Amino acid sequence: MTDKYAVIGNPIEHSKSPQIHAAFAEQTGEDIEYGRILGDMEDFYGDVRDFVGAGGKGLNVTVPFKERAWQLVNERSELARHAGAVNTIIVLENGRLRGDNTDGIGLVRDLEQNHGFGLEGKRILLIGAGGASRGILLPLLEKHPQEVVIANRTESKAVDLAQLFTEQGQVRGVGLEHEHDEPFDLVINGTSAGLSGKVPEISAGCLKPGGWTYDMMYSNEPTAFVRWGLEQGAAKALDGLGMLVEQAAESFFLWRGVRPETAPVIRHLRP
Ligand code: ATR
Repeated sequence: MTDKYAVIGNPIEHSKSPQIHAAFAEQTGEDIEYGRILGDMEDFYGDVRDFVGAGGKGLNVTVPFKERAWQLVNERSELARHAGAVNTIIVLENGRLRGDNTDGIGLVRDLEQNHGFGLEGKRILLIGAGGASRGILLPLLEKHPQEVVIANRTESKAVDLAQLFTEQGQVRGVGLEHEHDEPFDLVINGTSAGLSGKVPEISAGCLKPGGWTYDMMYSNEPTAFVRWGLEQGAAKALDGLGMLVEQAAESFFLWRGVRPETAPVIRHLRP
């Protein structure tokens, strides 16, 4: 019987996840169906219950439900525990729900495997201290960068977020205006400023010559942050398409035990 999966979010109509998972299924021969669910802002739990009740085997969870999914699941992976958010729900044999988070793995794989950017020993500036930044910190720190500096418009949130990860590596939080005394090898945008076409106010000169920028957001046109990176002379200014496909591949692996190839899917989605 065909196993059912879906992505749940609000809004959801522009999600590329159904297309990505359909490509993975075709490539691997896994017999799955993958839909999209417009989550009810008042009754996310009810939506999940209905999907699981109808035999659903797993969900991807996107904005704005990742924290609610974290609350809902019966057990959590270490990544999900640290991220404080769940983007992948696995329905276990006994009906219990396991929550995982594949976002950070997606970012790290895109940088290291797809683009050959080794994170070890690097100085990284992570802009933003919301859910998107929190979601990637553990996998980033596990690669042993020299330091991750979290810079946020609201400084206290950066300091608090860094505090959660001090045991995992070299990390500190600062206000946006204090983000650098020394330039960085990589600047990652984890803010939601791009949703309104903006770039966080970061000082010019925070990127080393030959440094890279990475926008966790993706759109068909170059994002405002990608354009900013190019203006700063970044050797590469990447957007989040590769991360999107890589996090999906990790979810697919968690559900099916099969690792799909991501390169052809990324190529196909790139306009
Ligand atoms: P998400 O879960 O997507 O990360 P969030 O928790 O609302 O969303 O966090 C949004 C992040 O983007 C925050 O770090 C926010 O900064 P503040 O904590 O100061 O609000 C940041 N952000 C949003 N718009 C921004 C802008 N125009 N300039 C700089 N930072 C911005």
